[in-house]
Amino acid sequence: MSKRTELLKGAADYIASKIDFTPEIGMILGSGLGVLGEEVENPVVVKYGDIPSFPQSTVEGHAGQMILGDLEGKKVLVMQGRFHYYEGYSMDTVVFPVQVMRLLGITSFLVTNAAGGVNKSFNPGDLMIISDHVKLSMDNPLRGPNEGSLGPRFYDMSDGYSARLRKLAQKAGAELGIPLREGVYALMGGPNYETPAEIRMLRTMGADAVGMSTVPEVLAAVHAGMEVLGISCVTNMAAGVLDQPLNHEEVIETAAKVRRDFIALVRKIVSRWEQV
Ligand code: HPA
Repeated sequence: MSKRTELLKGAADYIASKIDFTPEIGMILGSGLGVLGEEVENPVVVKYGDIPSFPQSTVEGHAGQMILGDLEGKKVLVMQGRFHYYEGYSMDTVVFPVQVMRLLGITSFLVTNAAGGVNKSFNPGDLMIISDHVKLSMDNPLRGPNEGSLGPRFYDMSDGYSARLRKLAQKAGAELGIPLREGVYALMGGPNYETPAEIRMLRTMGADAVGMSTVPEVLAAVHAGMEVLGISCVTNMAAGVLDQPLNHEEVIETAAKVRRDFIALVRKIVSRWEQV
């Protein structure tokens, strides 16, 4: 067993010792959405600090814990607090929790984020189902020896963002009267918001939204054979689209405004997850 597999297994075994069920859906929820964790029934809280080898949150005010339990009739693991590349973590550290999820038996992965709108027809507050991504950095969470127990060295990304789950999400949105966009998410490193020139470049490349997370986690989830759904909350128009500066407060404010819709949507999606 490789050193990393050993560490992953140690973390997974610790979490497994706290629960008496196998979680089905793993969730990493972006800014302002971690509150969904509070709606999990029969919750078991596991603090990151207590899990052997688990990365630790650097962001103040982040809960730094996972909640395991029931949501809409499914066994879920909700991470409250995620790890970003811009915080200084290597990409393989960013995806450590995703690989632990897989070792726990999780085969479905839901990831959300706050993003800037690159597509000029978008508006702040829009929710976008991620159909695909663009990663300009050559860095990769799977760079290095392949964890053969998790997945193959080379793997396909052509249905990385499951068409089945995208359809299911669109249907859930339509039923709730929540209009959903669908588009391509571009990863940028941050921590600065992009320059207007970078946003023009991304638009030319076919990106609809831009953000600083999600892509590493999705790469690790697909590698490990998980079925993935990604949703972006467009919290602001990306740099240069509007004649106004970008700031973190706007991101938090917009995310808070759509939180209720977002949670209703996620709940409905989770309730339907196994349906085709
Ligand atoms: N750029 C990158 N990340 C973001 C943005 C943005 O405009 N908004 C929220 N997260």
